[in-house]
Order: sequence, then C-alpha cells, then structure tokens
Amino acid sequence: MAKNSLSIIDNRTGKQYEIPIEEGGVIRASYLRNIKTGPDDFGLMSYDPAFTNTASCRSKITFIDGEKGILRYRGYPIEELAERSNYLEVAYLIVKGELPDRKHYLAWEHNIKIHTMVHENIKNFMQGFRYDAHPMGMLVGTIGALSTFYPDANNIHDLESRRLQTRRLIGKLPTIAAFAYRHALGFPYVYPDNDLSYTGNFLSMLFKMTELKYKPNPTLERALDVLFILHADHEQNCSANAMRAVGSSQVDPYSAVAAATAALYGPLHGGANEAVIRMLMEIGSPKNVPAFIKAVKNGERRLMGFGHRIYKSYDPRAKIVKRIAYEVFDVTGRNPLIDIALELERIALEDDYFVTRKLYPNVDFYTGVTYQAMGFPMTMFPVLFAIPRTSGWMAQWAEMVRDPEQKIARPRQVYTGENLRHWIPIDERPEPLMREDAVSDRI
Ligand code: ACO
Repeated sequence: MAKNSLSIIDNRTGKQYEIPIEEGGVIRASYLRNIKTGPDDFGLMSYDPAFTNTASCRSKITFIDGEKGILRYRGYPIEELAERSNYLEVAYLIVKGELPDRKHYLAWEHNIKIHTMVHENIKNFMQGFRYDAHPMGMLVGTIGALSTFYPDANNIHDLESRRLQTRRLIGKLPTIAAFAYRHALGFPYVYPDNDLSYTGNFLSMLFKMTELKYKPNPTLERALDVLFILHADHEQNCSANAMRAVGSSQVDPYSAVAAATAALYGPLHGGANEAVIRMLMEIGSPKNVPAFIKAVKNGERRLMGFGHRIYKSYDPRAKIVKRIAYEVFDVTGRNPLIDIALELERIALEDDYFVTRKLYPNVDFYTGVTYQAMGFPMTMFPVLFAIPRTSGWMAQWAEMVRDPEQKIARPRQVYTGENLRHWIPIDERPEPLMREDAVSDRI
C-alpha cells in the first residue's frame, strides 16, 4: 500500500479503495467516482457549497497562510512589497512572475501608459449613464463594452494578444474609474497625463480642476500606491473565481473582467469597505459601540470589515492600511470615524464571540476611513479595489488559459427537486400547492 494514499472502505459494499494523496495534501475528487455500489451507480461525489474545502486550480501567483496571517505575491512578503515597491512593479511581478530589472520596468511602464487613453466612444457611452449611476455599475458596464472595441481579444490562446489585453486593461481601468467619478459630479472628464505616475495620473484624472497641470500630493500618491499594492491579488477569492469560471468558457478577457468586477461589487467582497463606513456612520460615536457589538452577537447585525474565509488571524493587509491611515490623516486631517473603528476593534478583539470564531479586521476595515479622508465618496471604494485587482485577475486568467488541466468550469449538483411528472393542460391543473417549505424556493 502506497504511503501517500488514503484507504477508504465503502461499508455499503465492503470494498476498499486507495486514493493517492498528491503534493500539498490533495486528493482528486474524480477518484470518488470509482466508489460505486454497482455498474449503474454514478459513483460518489463531494459536496462543497461555496468551495470551502475544494481547490479549483494549481496556482503560482499568491500564497496565503490564513492561520499565521501571511500573504505573499510570487513568494515576496506583502510587507516588503508595500514598504519598498510600487504598484506597477508589483503588477509586473504578479502578471509575469518575476520582479523586473530597470530596463523591463521602464518598458512595462511605457506599455501601460500608452494604453491609458480610451476611445472617444467609450467616453460618449459613459455619458449615457444616469447622473446618479453608481460608479461600480458604470465600471462593470464599461469594461464589458471594451470587448466590442477590441474584437481581437477573442484570440485568447495567442500570447501576444493576452499581453496586449493585459496592458490595455491595467492602463485603462483608472481612466474609466475616474470618468465614472466625474460623471456623478457633472464635471468634464479629464484625460490622462502620462508624465505622472500610475496613481498620480489617476489622482489627476479625478481631482484636476482648472489648473494646467495637476500636482498630486506625494504622501497621498504614495498612500494610494501602497493601497493598490495591497489589493493586487488574493488568490481564489470570489472575483478571481468569477474571472476563472467565466474565462473558462473562452470568452474574451474584457467580458471576464466585467464579471469579476461584478463579483467584487457585492458587500461581502469588495463592497465591504463601503459597508464599513455606512456601519461606522450609523454607530455614530464610540460610546454606542457596545450596543452595536451586542446586536452583532445576537445575530441581528454583522460587523463589516471583520472576518475572512481564509484569515483566521489579523489580515496582514489590515495592519499596513492602519498605518497608512495615519499617514493620510497627517495631510488631510483625522477622519473622526477612526475612533469608532478603533473602539470596535478593541472591544471585538477582547470578546469571546469574536475570539472563538477567529474574527479579526480584514483589509476593508481601515481602507474606508482612509479613502474617505482622501476625499473619495463611498461609492468609489469598490472601484479603488477593482483598479489594482485587474492585474491579479489577468494573471489568474492567463494561468487558467495556459493550464492543460483546466476545462470549462462546470460544478455538479445534488438534485433535490421533483421526480418525473407529466404535463397537464392548463384548465385541468389543480391549484398549485403552496407548501410552506416551497415558498423559499420561489423567486
Ligand atoms: N460579524 C459577525 N459575525 C461574523 C462575521 C462578522 N463580520 N463574520 C463571520 N461571523 C460569524 C458567522 O455568523 C459564523 O458564526 P456561527 O458559526 O455562529 O454561525 C462564523 O462567524 C463563521 O462565519 P461564516 O459566515 O461561516 O464565514 P465565511 O467564511 O463564510 O464568511 C465573510 C467570510 C463573508 C468575509 C464574513 O466573515 C463576513 O461576512 N464578513 C463581513 C463582510 C466583510 O468584511 N467582507 C470583506 C471580506 S475581505 C474581502 O473580500 C476583501
């Protein structure tokens, strides 16, 4: 019997099966199909709603140890990258696997910057959104529309095409995001200024008014750059999974990034930072924190920005964001909501409910107060997440496209519906039975 294997006895038949344990403590779910009661039996399958214990791919991009609070991109600790690198360099690392030397960095920067412009029709398209459109909804729609401008992007098995779409997306996301922001204010859209850094140009497209040249505040420019580094990738989260699942149908990457952006929009994912600010404003004062915590413990409320599927200790990104928040406050003035956030964290980290469930602040807990101090409206928070995550999505997508083990994503189900029934003419049908247990099935 091989040492690296799992022996299973099926008590229904008495048969014993050996399943190899592969590198990383993995067993292939497809082996379970061999465990049958007879030739007509489908075989066993694993049931894992929300993929809490199922690996959907092998990946070399991001490593997380949720128990120890470790996050690394391509092996580099997030703390080192946040301290010493910049977003464009990190995007290169994530997409290409290595840090660039100077020559390659300059070429990469040039190749991204020449794609910051968007077609004028994109601008016109965006002007068609309602005056109060949520910028994240505009982002989802406009990224999807990009696929109509670049039909060559269908060529997903061509390396040069994949590279080009990656550069286009990383280059254009800040422009589309800034247009979405200006749209809500009724201000004219500002075209890119490629003399500025990636984040400096983004700030210019957001906040430039009548001045001839926008000069970003270096502290805020650097703070945003570090926040972009922290958000660049996070392995198989909801939006990366959406990117891979949608991309597995071999659709173009713009359509897949639109789907990933939509996944990010939800309040349990990238929308959480907006939800955190709404929660802090509702709490209103540190003295109301105990009552709010009580409501959370009673299951009436959820402490937004706390808890994570993977991290069962302090999210390493949250530690860095907390430091960045104070650097930003030195320029902008203190956001008073920070005091409520600090009090929530203090009480929660001492409370049994949170301690036993291993609920700690996640990256979103302190990003909202930081973005708000920088002058961003809440609706822009998930947009600020989507911009840097584009490099991660494209890396995840390219890895999926190149992986010979990948096929179109198609989970199985456990069917719990009716057995065979036959169609009856409409006038002969009895009144539909509204069973108590069936009500929840209805839309
Ligand atoms: N507040 C209160 N209780 C919580 C919270 C929370 N924020 N998060 C989890 N719990 C409780 C659950 O009620 C559950 O308790 P129970 O065992 O008594 O039923 C237990 O902790 C486990 O929680 P799950 O929901 O099973 O954990 P899951 O891994 O499915 O969810 C998630 C993770 C979605 C992030 C969750 O913690 C949450 O909703 N947090 C708030 C939203 C948030 O901050 N999202 C951002 C995540 S980070 C990101 O996407 C960038």
